Amino acid sequence: MKTTIAQVPAHEGKEVTIGVWLTNKRSSGKIAFLQLRDGTGFIQGVVAKNDVTDEVFQLAKNLNQETSLYITGKIAEDKRSPFGYEMQVTDMEVIQEASDYPITPKEHGTEFLMDHRHLWLRSSRQHAVMKIRNEIIRATYQYFNDNGYVKVDAPILTGASAEGTTELFHTKYFDEDAYLSQSGQLYMEAAAMALGKVFSFGPTFRAEKSKTRRHLIEFWMIEPEMAFTNHEESLEIQEQYVTFVVQSVLQNCQLELQTLGRDTTKLEAVQAPFPRISYDDAVQLLKEKGFDDIEWGEDFGAPHETAIAESFDKPVFIINYPTDIKAFYMKPDPERPEVVQCADLIAPEGYGEVVGGSQRIDDPELMKQRYEEHHLSGPAYEWYLELRQYGSVPHSGFGLGLERTVAWIAGVEHVRETIPFPRLLNRLYP
Ligand code: 4AD
Ligand code: MG
Repeated sequence: MKTTIAQVPAHEGKEVTIGVWLTNKRSSGKIAFLQLRDGTGFIQGVVAKNDVTDEVFQLAKNLNQETSLYITGKIAEDKRSPFGYEMQVTDMEVIQEASDYPITPKEHGTEFLMDHRHLWLRSSRQHAVMKIRNEIIRATYQYFNDNGYVKVDAPILTGASAEGTTELFHTKYFDEDAYLSQSGQLYMEAAAMALGKVFSFGPTFRAEKSKTRRHLIEFWMIEPEMAFTNHEESLEIQEQYVTFVVQSVLQNCQLELQTLGRDTTKLEAVQAPFPRISYDDAVQLLKEKGFDDIEWGEDFGAPHETAIAESFDKPVFIINYPTDIKAFYMKPDPERPEVVQCADLIAPEGYGEVVGGSQRIDDPELMKQRYEEHHLSGPAYEWYLELRQYGSVPHSGFGLGLERTVAWIAGVEHVRETIPFPRLLNRLYP
């Protein structure tokens, strides 16, 4: 019977065949231990000299790393393995013999591993990270589908900037200029006026010359947008959604979190509601923590965010940033126009901003004024203004960066390990 490692618990005591790759092995005189993977999981195969033909035993002792094979054996409980099962091997058939696999069980440097990303993905650590990424995506679709949102796809080739013009990837679009999307938000605002509650999930691009553990050039963003929703209501949606995602990973990825050595008590504490701190109070807090040179009106950097997050054991919303340092579309507080109705959600443990959101300007005159202040003009902005001219309503939305969220939940230091093929400042390969 052909099966997969993930299905093994259903076959305890029975003989099965699995297509696998060898990841590692050790053998002594009469026994060989094979570490096997098939994409669905990892299992140990035990080859006892007395249970197999001489030919199979010799084959087992001489298998090279990443050789592909069909392996047959009886599934038995194994209390010492985190997976809980092993295979008592009876037969093997090699599909392709591999030799000189570049990634050996010894330590390799990061650049070497990044150059071999197409192979590095096979490791148990990368496997765990990709499974957690997948669970976050699955839980995202579940949350928004269960709560009445419509998934709407935003274009990737766009005629205008959504988040500031300095970080745009430019390309020719026949005779016109085009840019790779920095955010689907402006299109989601149009979609929310047609469908009420919507979300997009797609790749976004930032030609940012940042070389930090939090920055990718190409990253995936989940961008919900809700009509008839104010900023306070949007914050409640954000904390519900993030709680749902974290708890889903805890529920469905125990083995992966264990593989990564993640301290899960920190994740268990992630339950809505999340604390909120105003930008004003955050500046005060930073001064108390010894950041003497931070002044009201300046943006926070990574060390500031980390210091603020340290005061809380859950993700924390920093709300009402100065209008001057935020995007043109954010709605100024009617009582205090020098700040906007926005929030950044800062993850605990130094992972930084994972969500950015705001209420949007709904008044056409104010939007025109903001265009001028930000020097935004041209036909690309006309349709966006028209959204404010035909039945404008209060609306809010936010963007969650997938890779930063994966890094935080999986407990992975750098976002380069949280996307299958990272695009970094100096990396377009593989
Ligand atoms: O704060 P940002 O720039 O917000 C927007 O793009 C809004 N239009 C979203 C919206 O309201 N619909 O980006 C949102 C999130 C950040 O909080 C961060 O998690 C992630 O996207 N992000 C990045 N992730 C990896 N690498 C980068 N260079 C990122 N830039 C932003
Ligand atoms: Mg932001």
